[in-house]
Formats: sequence, C-alpha cells, structure tokens
Amino acid sequence: MRLILLGPPGAGKGTQSVFLTKYFHIPQISTGDMLRSIMQSDSSIANDIKNIINAGKLVSDELIIKLVIDRISQNDCQNGYLLDGFPRNVFQAQALEKINIKINFVINIELSEKIIVDRISGRLIHPASGRTYHINLKPPINQGIDDITGEPLIQRDDDKVETVKNRLSIYYQKTKPLIDYYLSLSKLNNNAPKYLQISGLGTVEEVRDRILSHIL
Ligand code: AP5
Repeated sequence: MRLILLGPPGAGKGTQSVFLTKYFHIPQISTGDMLRSIMQSDSSIANDIKNIINAGKLVSDELIIKLVIDRISQNDCQNGYLLDGFPRNVFQAQALEKINIKINFVINIELSEKIIVDRISGRLIHPASGRTYHINLKPPINQGIDDITGEPLIQRDDDKVETVKNRLSIYYQKTKPLIDYYLSLSKLNNNAPKYLQISGLGTVEEVRDRILSHIL
C-alpha cells in the first residue's frame, strides 16, 4: 500500500499516519520529521533549513526530492509507505510520477483555518520520534512528558502564530493546487492514485474510521 497524506498544516496528517502505518505495516515518511532531524544535526545545511522552516517557507524541491527518493528506495519500503508532507507542490508530484511510483490513494484531510490554529497552538511534540500531543485535545499522561519514553515534550518553533499564518499562506499558494492535480489525474487515468477528500473534524478516532472506511 502506498499512500499520500495531503492537507493544510495541523490538519492531522501526522496523527492519522500513526494509525495508517500500523494498520498497513508500512513506514511513515514525514518530510517535516526528516528536516527537523537534519536541523538538529551538525550538517552544513542544518542552519539554512532551520531558517526556512521557521519562516514558514518550503525548502528546495531539489533537496526534498532527493531525500524522499533515497528514503523510498530503502528495504523497509518494499511493501509500501505513507508519504506525510510530500509532495508539497506540483513539481514534487511530477517528480514522483517521473520515477513511475504507483500510489494507491491520495488522502486529503480538510479542516477550517480556525480549528487549525487552535490545534497547532496547543501541539506538543516528542522530537526524537515525531509523536504529537495536544495540551487539551490529546494530552500526554504526565504533563509535558512523552508517554512512551518519559522524555520532555516541546513546542515546535514553527508553531508560533505568525509562522503558522505564513505556512497557511504557502499551503494555499503551493500545496492546495495538488487537489485539482490529483483529481484530474484520477479522472484521466485508471492507474492514477484514487483521490479521497476526508473531513478532519471530530475526534482522532472518528477521522481514522472515516479514512479507513474509504480505503478498505
Ligand atoms: P510538516 O512537519 O510536514 O508540517 P505541516 O504539513 O505544516 O503539518 P503539521 O505537522 O504542522 O500538521 P499535521 O497535519 O501533521 O497535524 P498533526 O497530526 O500534528 O512540515 C514542516 C515544514 O517543513 C514545512 O513548513 C516546510 O518548511 C518543510 N517541509 C516539509 N515537507 C516539505 C516538502 N515536501 N517540501 C518543502 N518543504 C517541506 O495535528 C496537529 C495537532 O492537532 C496536534 O496537537 C494533534 O494532537 C491535534 N489533533 C490532530 N487530530 C486531531 C483531532 N481529530 N481532534 C483533536 N485534535 C487533533
């Protein structure tokens, strides 16, 4: 099973990835998590990536396409994978097509801007694993502590209100056009990925069941 999760920042892509990857026994490939891990390394591009992410902009297509192509050629991806946060624009989507990757479903999680801002402003993450929580909606068992490892949770630097506004604006300009792109593709070609539009409203489990009911 090869899946793409689309949707605005904070729509619940990372949250739903946890269920879907467990269900289908496939790895989650989150380009955001990959970039955050580079940001924390000593690599020469760490600082450049940090500045781009904290401004709410997109990193270069060249870098991100290389990261994804390298990752999906690894052994654990032989039976499929879930792409979370990639593609982020039409150029990236075309790069996947050029290497003849057959995607089964493109799942677009929709959510209004107001709810997005509420969800992002309360988000906490466990940096090492990418696990996410929400201070009110999905709190950890112990305040500020990851349920699994007992390590501290942090707020992402790009979750500040001003940066979230920039991320949303980039989403509307660059990523939202992918909806029409995948819709047209699925109408033109039987081998194209099936496009699913899913409401991100409701509890985490309700959204999960909505997605699974369309896929299974
Ligand atoms: P990335 O990490 O991909 O961020 P994003 O797409 O903005 O998505 P988020 O991680 O913010 O949200 P999400 O949809 O996963 O929501 P979540 O499940 O956490 O990218 C970060 C940056 O990296 C980009 O801005 C860009 O700079 C760069 N980048 C990444 N990919 C790139 C690419 N391909 N090309 C170029 N640049 C790239 O949920 C949010 C909150 O809501 C959580 O607190 C969660 O607990 C809560 N929640 C979720 N679902 C529910 C629910 N149903 N009910 C109540 N609460 C819920």
